[in-house]
Amino acid sequence: MTGPNDEGRITDVAFEAQLSLQRILPRLESVWQAETDTQLQREFLNRLHLHWPDLFAILLQLYGTRYDFFYHIEQILLTAAQALRDRPEPLQELDRQRINDTTWFQSQELTGGALYVDLFSENLGRLREHIDYFKNLGLTYLHLMPLFAVRPGDNDGGYAISNYRSVDPRLGTIEDLRLLADDLRKVGISLVLDFVFNHTSEDHDWAQQAQSGVREYQQFYHIFPDRQWPDEYEKTLREIFPTVRRGNFTWHDGMHAWVWTTFNSFQWDLNYRNPAVFRAMAEEMLFIANTGVEVLRLDAVAFIWKKLGTGCENLPEAHLLIQAFNLMTRISAPALAFLSEAIVHPDEVIKYISPKECQISYNPTLMALLWESLATRHVSLLVRTLSHRYRLPTGTVWVNYLRCHDDVGWTFDDADAAAIGINGYDHRRFLNDFYTGQYPGSFARGVPFQHNTITGDMRISGTLASLAGLEQAIEKDDETLKELAIRRILLLHGITLSIGGIPLIYLGEEWGVLNDYDFVKDPAKAGDTRWVHRPKMKWEFLDDLDDRIRSSRGSIRNRIYRSLQRMIGLRKSMAAFYGAQMELFDPDNEHVLGFVRSHAGSRVVVMANFTEEPCIVSGNHLRTAGLGRFFRDAITSEELPTSEDLQLEAYQILWLQRI
Ligand code: GLC
Ligand code: GLC
Repeated sequence: MTGPNDEGRITDVAFEAQLSLQRILPRLESVWQAETDTQLQREFLNRLHLHWPDLFAILLQLYGTRYDFFYHIEQILLTAAQALRDRPEPLQELDRQRINDTTWFQSQELTGGALYVDLFSENLGRLREHIDYFKNLGLTYLHLMPLFAVRPGDNDGGYAISNYRSVDPRLGTIEDLRLLADDLRKVGISLVLDFVFNHTSEDHDWAQQAQSGVREYQQFYHIFPDRQWPDEYEKTLREIFPTVRRGNFTWHDGMHAWVWTTFNSFQWDLNYRNPAVFRAMAEEMLFIANTGVEVLRLDAVAFIWKKLGTGCENLPEAHLLIQAFNLMTRISAPALAFLSEAIVHPDEVIKYISPKECQISYNPTLMALLWESLATRHVSLLVRTLSHRYRLPTGTVWVNYLRCHDDVGWTFDDADAAAIGINGYDHRRFLNDFYTGQYPGSFARGVPFQHNTITGDMRISGTLASLAGLEQAIEKDDETLKELAIRRILLLHGITLSIGGIPLIYLGEEWGVLNDYDFVKDPAKAGDTRWVHRPKMKWEFLDDLDDRIRSSRGSIRNRIYRSLQRMIGLRKSMAAFYGAQMELFDPDNEHVLGFVRSHAGSRVVVMANFTEEPCIVSGNHLRTAGLGRFFRDAITSEELPTSEDLQLEAYQILWLQRI
């Protein structure tokens, strides 16, 4: 049924999807030829029939106007089939389990850790020796910072990848990675790795081919002969690393052309308008998945699609692309979940979160506002924001963190701030002053990152302990200040462990690692202050955690570690902490955050005091809010009747269970 002039125009996408699939399927046969076990092929076909209509619709939308569209979709399906064919048996088994348990990551038994392999244990082989350490702390999720082959010299902490299929030889081999993933899986720890798909290093094979003039590979990137288009784009772009270079383009002498480089000049942005790029990166993604990764951290998701006249961040096509990658995993690696790294405005962060896109997301707004509340001693902006921004679609979850390998940026919404009488611009200045220790009375020892002298914008580097006051307290050798800093650290952990979602610890935090200013001695790191909070693990410090060494009892490291370890254990045992559903309640005290967690008939009331002064919450108020009459605090085991007012000590957090 066609009209006179619409030959070739698609009116029924579902029908065309089926027709294309029928045409392509015989060409996929070759992949299965050597396969004696037909179960896998059957599973492939089932999943393909289930997900192809959606995948086709997206690919059609992104690439349907290309004359060679059909060639590309065929290549994409070959990639999917081959990847499943190459998938190791234990992972196929995991796929089968996870298809029936798509929200395994909601469990309160999950707690994450993140680390740089070289800084933690030198290499992958030696990392395996520390699996007991992760287990003892209670981790069930381990994010290894990028460990693939990188360019020589500065490599942006592994984010300038020159080969997605080989491990940086200083860290080991792909085989070491597989062995590690297996060992972790056996003890219930899920491996998390990055998918750095917005850019490759300038020395990746594709970029090298582009440099030597191969036009097919020049089309993998955004390369311009002169300033005409770059200047047009610049009108609406922001600068991510303004102290590295002004603008978003880098001149390449050899090619005599400008290359799009959002981040460092050696990180070339990929051009996803080219379907060959989607296919090539899908192949790399599935290769990484097949090493045994269970969660893939989608790096710099906001930047993957460019369009003239826009900020080239968070564009609708970026979402479509991620959905297309997600569908590839549903077909060829369904055990895999996506974690979105969108450190952008909260209105945009939420758009990446869905079972069809990223099931898991960093929660940069909570992170920023916990630090904000510590600085101001008021929870009003935090509460205002959580009240309409915490809820997530069913089947998705937050990753709640305090520090990570990156800087702290003040990504709250100016309208949220204005609603409670705060000017966003001034407040960010205050926070930057506070966390760089400039503000009178500040406890923090942060370091500026990417100060943009034109816009005044700045972010903050520093470890959790240094930002929370421990560095200053130790330097002043002041017992009261040390005590307050430790309590701040535990307060923040107490929140990320209870508020709903996967708590993620940047390893070192668990015993209060301080800033390490020695990074400036390494020329490949000196220009990037984020290295101040990426220190090398000092294993001798762990003696301090060893209870058998008597003199160490009561040391700061020991206290932070033991308290955190205990809270992680408690979290696992508290069913109310499942998932990310959280209800705020008003403790009627501007310094105290209050929320309720409930799941499967069990309930916990959490209250957290953000000041160094004791705070009173009226027992009557709790009772009349229907929260209960008698509580036990899971953290201290203390019993608290609401017939009396509740007193929270300086920076105390309560996890109240009804008795
Ligand atoms: C992400 C990473 C950051 C890196 C950037 C470029 O934001 O977290 O460390 O610099 O992407 O890859
Ligand atoms: C980008 C990333 C953010 C990171 C920053 C690097 O903004 O999205 O995650 O913190 O670059 O500093």
